[in-house]
Amino acid sequence: MKRWKFFKEGIKNLKQVGTVTRSSKFVCKEMLSHIDFSKAKVIIELGAGDGVITKHILKQMRPDAKLITFEILDKFIPDLESIQDERLIVAHDSAERMGYYLEQIGADKTDAIVSALPFVLLPDALREDILQKSSEYLVEGGPFVQLHYSLSKKKYYKEAFGNVDVNFVPLNIPPAFVLVSEKRA
Ligand SMILES: C[S@@+](CC[C@H](N)C(=O)[O-])C[C@H]1O[C@@H](n2cnc3c(N)ncnc32)[C@H](O)[C@@H]1O
Repeated sequence: MKRWKFFKEGIKNLKQVGTVTRSSKFVCKEMLSHIDFSKAKVIIELGAGDGVITKHILKQMRPDAKLITFEILDKFIPDLESIQDERLIVAHDSAERMGYYLEQIGADKTDAIVSALPFVLLPDALREDILQKSSEYLVEGGPFVQLHYSLSKKKYYKEAFGNVDVNFVPLNIPPAFVLVSEKRA
């Protein structure tokens, strides 16, 4: 999708998308630096947009790994489905349905979750459900990596995972924070 089209979709659906620009390559790099790609066999992405992070994940993924990527907005689905990669499963569905898609590929856990969901704008009950499921389906030691544009909601992850680290990425519009929590026993 062209940059201006993403901008248009962002404006039209601001409550769902939460931004009008896709993530920079610096954000993608920071987010993915928390994943051990040599070991990860199943990765989940939440809020794929038109697939900017998705493509970076696929570049680094093992040949035998699977990526399940969630996106609810119809307009972004053709871009995701046009990515020619057998390891990618595009879930045109809401993120809390991750258990169903894991079951479809015969997995009961995911090794990592990468999320750009605009949690600040989602209803509390939906956010809590998605974070509870993320914690339930992550393997022990697995990272939950979340993009934010402020630190005001850091507590969400502290509450869900009991821990959260903050990384700042200035080279993004707007400057971004990458929050990382680890699934612990
Ligand atoms: C900030 S955009 C991120 C797009 C892209 N990953 C990036 O980093 O540029 C957030 C995306 O989350 C999607 N989204 C919002 N709520 C969702 C939900 N409940 N389940 C799946 N995707 C959702 C929006 O439609 C939007 O495309």
